[in-house]
Amino acid sequence: MSTTSIKEYFPALNQKIRGKDFTYLDSAATTLKPRSVIEALTQYYTYDTANIHRGAHFLANKGTTAFEDTRDLVANFINAAHREEIIFTKGTTDSINLIAATFGERFINDGDEIILSTLEHHSNIIPWQLLSSRKKITIKYIPIDGNGDLILSEYRKLFTSKTKLVSITHVSNVLGTVNPIKELISFAHTQGVPILIDGAQSINHILIDVQELDCDFYAFSAHKMFGPNGVGVLYAKQTILEELPPYQGGGNMIDQVGEISSTYNKIPHKFEAGTPAIGEVIAFAEAIKFIKAIGQKQISKYDEDLLKYTITKLSPISGLKIIGNPAKRSGVVSFTLENVHSYDLGSILDMQGIAIRTGNHCAQQLMKCLNLTSIARASFTIYNTNSDIDRLADGIRKVKDFL
Ligand SMILES: Cc1ncc(COP(=O)(O)O)c(C=O)c1O
Repeated sequence: MSTTSIKEYFPALNQKIRGKDFTYLDSAATTLKPRSVIEALTQYYTYDTANIHRGAHFLANKGTTAFEDTRDLVANFINAAHREEIIFTKGTTDSINLIAATFGERFINDGDEIILSTLEHHSNIIPWQLLSSRKKITIKYIPIDGNGDLILSEYRKLFTSKTKLVSITHVSNVLGTVNPIKELISFAHTQGVPILIDGAQSINHILIDVQELDCDFYAFSAHKMFGPNGVGVLYAKQTILEELPPYQGGGNMIDQVGEISSTYNKIPHKFEAGTPAIGEVIAFAEAIKFIKAIGQKQISKYDEDLLKYTITKLSPISGLKIIGNPAKRSGVVSFTLENVHSYDLGSILDMQGIAIRTGNHCAQQLMKCLNLTSIARASFTIYNTNSDIDRLADGIRKVKDFL
């Protein structure tokens, strides 16, 4: 597939916004959906609607097979050792909450400590704060340097005999920093501490091999990789999953139900209570097939080139400051424009049909550390081209002229 032809797979790009050509530079918030994903959703809701794992009729079986096939595809996509290590959740946020609730319940006790980083999205902070309001745990943060990279020597110093978990993002949604997670994982393991990786911003840009990384948990969302909303994945090592208590109670997660107590289903179903987002999981398979058809390595290379081009095009704009200069960056470029509030910048770009994200990006701690309250972020993926970036640069110049 050539990149120009890739745009053709995304109907949303073939529309006018405010009467202008549409330039979508907000893929870190959510990616657009290719036609195959939309068609799979339509097929399920038009013809194939049925509940799964319980019916004896044709569509119930068809749905169950398609749903479980997606689990195989996901396991293969991230090279999990076992399909049972793939749990479908509502998204990255839900996946992290699942671990905070279950691992937190079983393995983290009063007086224990966990390690996060200054780069975290609220989704990887609040579940731990909620846990710390139930149990008296201490949350420690790995600091960043002036470029937006984690200070690894400080990371190592944070471990004590009380450390029970590290939970850290793979890629920062604000600075694009690609954390050296292999190093972080292997150091945590030398200390006997498991580690969760928030893959929300990496899954669409970086080839993930959970066995090679040797992470204990990896969380991501389908909607950030061309898939539907309401579906996420929690990868967890089978040995750990077997030891965790259930997350939520309800149908599908049980084995035998008694008046007072019950026994639970096998993994992964033990962690999938109630009716899941069936059509969305089935359509998610099409998103994975789409990525595989292009090739993950090609996508990474393409994103890298586009990122370089963006920095080259935006840097010369006077008054524009690119935030952060991490050793390795992926997918996003955040910036401020002198004397222009990012909200105004975003609104005036929107008038030109250009969609970016503005605000605190669900990362208030990082914003505090950067001494900023609001920034603009352009983020992209395989359907963006250099001409989208040219439009953005021209658009920003127009904002300057306008104000
Ligand atoms: C780094 C990071 N983690 C977690 C999330 C939360 O993802 P979701 O809202 O899909 O659960 C996001 C969303 O932008 C993110 O960027």
